[in-house]
Amino acid sequence: MDTETVSSQSCFPRDLVRRTAAFWDAHPCDGYPHIVDRMRFRYHKEPWLPQLLHKIVETTKNGSMLELGCGQGTDAIYVCQRLGRDARYTGIDCSPASIESARRASDELSNLRVEPQFLIGDVESLQFDDSMFDVLYSMGVLHHTPSIETALSEAHRVLKPGRPAFVIVYRSGSLKLTTANVVRKIARTVKRPTDHSAARRYSRWLGTMVRECVDVPILRCYRRKQITTMFRLSGFDVLNIQPAGLSLPNIGVNRILEHLARDLNIGSYWCVEARKKP
Ligand SMILES: C[S@@+](CC[C@H](N)C(=O)[O-])C[C@H]1O[C@@H](n2cnc3c(N)ncnc32)[C@H](O)[C@@H]1O
Repeated sequence: MDTETVSSQSCFPRDLVRRTAAFWDAHPCDGYPHIVDRMRFRYHKEPWLPQLLHKIVETTKNGSMLELGCGQGTDAIYVCQRLGRDARYTGIDCSPASIESARRASDELSNLRVEPQFLIGDVESLQFDDSMFDVLYSMGVLHHTPSIETALSEAHRVLKPGRPAFVIVYRSGSLKLTTANVVRKIARTVKRPTDHSAARRYSRWLGTMVRECVDVPILRCYRRKQITTMFRLSGFDVLNIQPAGLSLPNIGVNRILEHLARDLNIGSYWCVEARKKP
């Protein structure tokens, strides 16, 4: 891959998934234990995301949706407030603490149209039968797993033929990933423990972003061509790939600048829409 940072190359993939789960158990995605605070934070930081989630809701209608790496279920709650009443939502994540938090969020809210099912699972070894789901969604996950290729082929297996997958992964050369990779290299070179007090101080604006950049076991990013190749090799037609999100601190500028991420090709993520061949 273009830029690959794995904190210990000697680990077996399953150990890496265990360490990944331990990281997200300690720092569930976006922080903010309460769902209402978390949603407010998230959609200020990533204002482009609700538009995509609406498209996913429209595409799913009353069908079945699977989310790979649902974290604390923030997007799950957003879509379950909007899906058709006969739709089904399943979210899986390898972090038991995140799944626990996602379940708590759905128990706390009374305005869900669909009751989400949150399960502990590994995106590289899905516990579902072939061709079970109408729509697949994954945000910010597959660049953290040992083999994105295995995860994509699992995604392809469980999706019904002709149905779409919406997958968001880190983009090579973006400000966030370039900074993260420099910081990770320095941290490893000087072999000093990370200063978590700074991450804590700024978590109100940055959520878990600083900790993720520095400490997450696997952090990869991809070029457009790599994305196309990986999806095609897994059996998908790639319909659209566009940059999204500047991942700037949550100080209100993201909404104003979000079009730059797309139009100037400088987003932190690739937002990929693909389809399993009919
Ligand atoms: C950046 S968080 C994103 C969570 C959620 N999609 C969101 O945007 O709020 C990455 C998530 O991927 C999960 N994850 C990473 N590797 C995984 C794997 N192999 N199987 C299942 N979940 C995984 C982590 O536990 C973590 O919750």
